[in-house]
Parts: sequence; structure tokens; C-alpha cells
Amino acid sequence: MNPFVPIILIGGLILITLFLIVIDKLLGGGKEKMLLVNEDTIIPVKNEDTLLNTLSNQKIYIPSACGGKATCGFCKFRLIEGGGEVKPTELPFLSKEERDLGIRLSCQVKVKDDMKIEIPKELLHAKAYQTKVVEIIEQTYDIKLVRFKLIDPDKMEFKPGQYAQIKVPGIDVIRAYSIASNPKDTSEIELIIRQVPNGKATTFVHKALQVGDKITLTGPYGDFYLRDSGREMICIAGGSGKAPIRSILYYLKDRGMTRKVTYFFGAKSKRDLYMTEEFEQLMTEFPNFTYVPALSEPLEEDNWKGEVGLITDVVDRHTDDLSEAEAYLCGSPGMINACNKVLSKHKIKEHNVFFDKF
Ligand SMILES: Cc1cc2nc3c(=O)[nH]c(=O)nc-3n(C[C@H](O)[C@H](O)[C@H](O)COP(=O)(O)OP(=O)(O)OC[C@H]3O[C@@H](n4cnc5c(N)ncnc54)[C@H](O)[C@@H]3O)c2cc1C
Ligand code: FES
Repeated sequence: MNPFVPIILIGGLILITLFLIVIDKLLGGGKEKMLLVNEDTIIPVKNEDTLLNTLSNQKIYIPSACGGKATCGFCKFRLIEGGGEVKPTELPFLSKEERDLGIRLSCQVKVKDDMKIEIPKELLHAKAYQTKVVEIIEQTYDIKLVRFKLIDPDKMEFKPGQYAQIKVPGIDVIRAYSIASNPKDTSEIELIIRQVPNGKATTFVHKALQVGDKITLTGPYGDFYLRDSGREMICIAGGSGKAPIRSILYYLKDRGMTRKVTYFFGAKSKRDLYMTEEFEQLMTEFPNFTYVPALSEPLEEDNWKGEVGLITDVVDRHTDDLSEAEAYLCGSPGMINACNKVLSKHKIKEHNVFFDKF
């Protein structure tokens, strides 16, 4: 073989690479783009990454419960200039009104040119936290409470009802979990995590996570949080939906439970109930607070003397006029939709109902 052949081949490859780099530059690739956030922060961007990742590299953490796969619809922002047209992957998550306003999914928009965007101001407070798992407590056969000590930064301020996101180590999975602990305890947070069969994050938490493990959390996020209105409150939860309500109740307890609160918790049978003593104890301390656990399918061996039936029926039976009340609901979409119907039958005003569906 001609000894010059390898040299010619390598030279050819270098020339092609240089040619491609020049073409890329001429087409604007690699050019520094300017990202203007909320009219006051300019971020120079070199790479052509998604807006979600670009912002995350700048320590601006947009919620992204699906990790950027366009299946959660959490990563919304407002595009004012640049960014191209709406993609088909975004459409299922955007109403007509949102599209008219320029709302987009940050995991689907790439920073290819100069862009002007708007993000909710409170998202600028979300941070990434290095944490250590300090306790895992089994609550039921499929629910665990996990306590995380915040290492760096070592404090998270959050509103009762908000959520954090867990990054599952080793796999590209991010999931949202409501904060279940007292907002006063800023150095440790507790999450209540229910095992979803074959679920990526929950299988990791239930089968692999150990005390001492280091985990990255981001947050706080969400507009499901307690409003300081002083109104009577109805709280309704099912399964792991107990988490944000627990945080809300801690907050109210620390302020003397001055509001009248009725908390309905729906479960199938007795083995799905947990933290019952904690809420019964709260009832003995504060006459303003009532805890109503209800079982939809109690087993004979449960020997259950409490409320029986679908949580909607139980709420219906226990409530009068709610026109001046506020409601906080957390559970499956089906449960929340059904509860909304019952609450509106009792004349609750739509703007006084707050919920997190999951
Ligand atoms: C704002 C918010 C707060 C949340 N807070 C909590 C919380 O406090 N505690 C908690 O346990 N979860 C909470 N979730 C749900 C959580 O984010 C995950 O979606 C859930 O834990 C499943 O994650 P996974 O990775 O294990 O399952 P995946 O791998 O995402 O899903 C596996 C399969 O299960 C299905 N699936 C996913 N979720 C459910 C479900 N809930 N029920 C039945 N099937 C499901 C999926 O469609 C898929 O087919 C919250 C979600 C949101 C959006
Ligand atoms: S991160 Fe889930 S849709 Fe964008």
C-alpha cells in the first residue's frame, strides 16, 4: 500500500471537519446568543441546548417533573422574542390562551438565536440542593417517608404545600414530591413517597435508597400553598396526597390553629391509613381541627368503626355551606375532579379551591 494513503486520508478528514466548522459558523451555529430573562438578566449562550438545560446551567431551575421528555407540561415559560414556532410535542400542554400569550415548554425550545423570555419570579428562588438521606420510615406497605438533611445549600425556605424534585442518581429521571415537613424546619425536609408499580423513581426510593445516600433535590416549586386568608378550611387527600396537607397543618399548628380546619383522608382499607395518631393528637390539642379518615372498602378484619364510603360521599355528608370556605385538595386527578363537584354543590367559590393532582 502506498505509505502516503493514511496521511492523505487523515488530511482529507481534517479538511472536511474544517469545512463543516466554517459552514456552521456562517449559518450562525456556535455564535454567542443573548438570552434576556425578565427584562433584567442577560445570559450569553454559546451552545445550542434546550432552554431548560441552558437555564439550569445558569442555576435557574424550571420545574421539569419528566426531565425534559415533554410528558409533564411543568416547564412552561413565556417566549417574547425568538425561539421559533410551537412544536407538536408542546401542543397537548398549551391551551389556546397560553399559545396566544406565547407560553411554551422550555424543554422543547432550543436557544438557536437571541431570545427574550419571561419566567415567574418565584422560580428564581429555586435552587439545587445536595442532601443526605438521614431517615427512611415505612408508613404502609407501599408508602415511605424519607427525611433529607440539606448539605449545600443547608437551608430551604418553602411555603407549606409546595414541592421539590428528586434527581434519581444514575438514570436521567427527575420527579416531583410534595414537601411533607414543617416549613419552620428549613435544614431538613421530608417527602412521602408511594411506590408506583414499575415506576422508575419510586422503585429506586423503595428498593435501593439507603440512609446515608447523597441525593440532589431542586425546589421549592408550585402554586399549591396555603393562602393566609383566615377562612375556614376543608382539606381532602388520598394516598401520598397527605404530604402537602401535613406541611400546611404544621404551619397552622405553630400559629395556634386559629382557622377551623376539617381534614378528610380517603383510603381503601385500614392498611392504607398512616400517621393516624399524629392527626388524632392534633385534634385533641385543637378543637378547631377535625380529622376524618374514611375507608372505601374496609376489610372485615379491619373492624373499622369510622367513616365508610367514597371520600366524596363522606365530604358531602359532613359539610354545610362552604361559600366562605377555602379548600386544599391533593390526590389523583379522578379524586380531585369528583371532590370539586361536591365542593361546588356546597357553594364553594372556584377561586377558593386549590389543588395538586398526581
Ligand atoms: C406536583 C407534584 C407533586 C407530587 N407529589 C408526590 C408525593 O408527595 N408523593 C408521591 O408519591 N408522588 C408524588 N407525585 C408523583 C411523582 O412525581 C411521580 O409521578 C410518581 O412517584 C411516579 O414516579 P415513577 O418514576 O416511580 O413512575 P414512572 O416511571 O414515571 O411511571 C411508571 C408507570 O406508572 C404510571 N404512573 C405514574 N404515576 C402514577 C401514579 N401516581 N399512579 C398510578 N400510576 C402512575 C405511569 O403512567 C407509568 O406507566 C407528585 C407529582 C406532582 C406533579
Ligand atoms: S420538562 Fe416535562 S414537559 Fe418539559
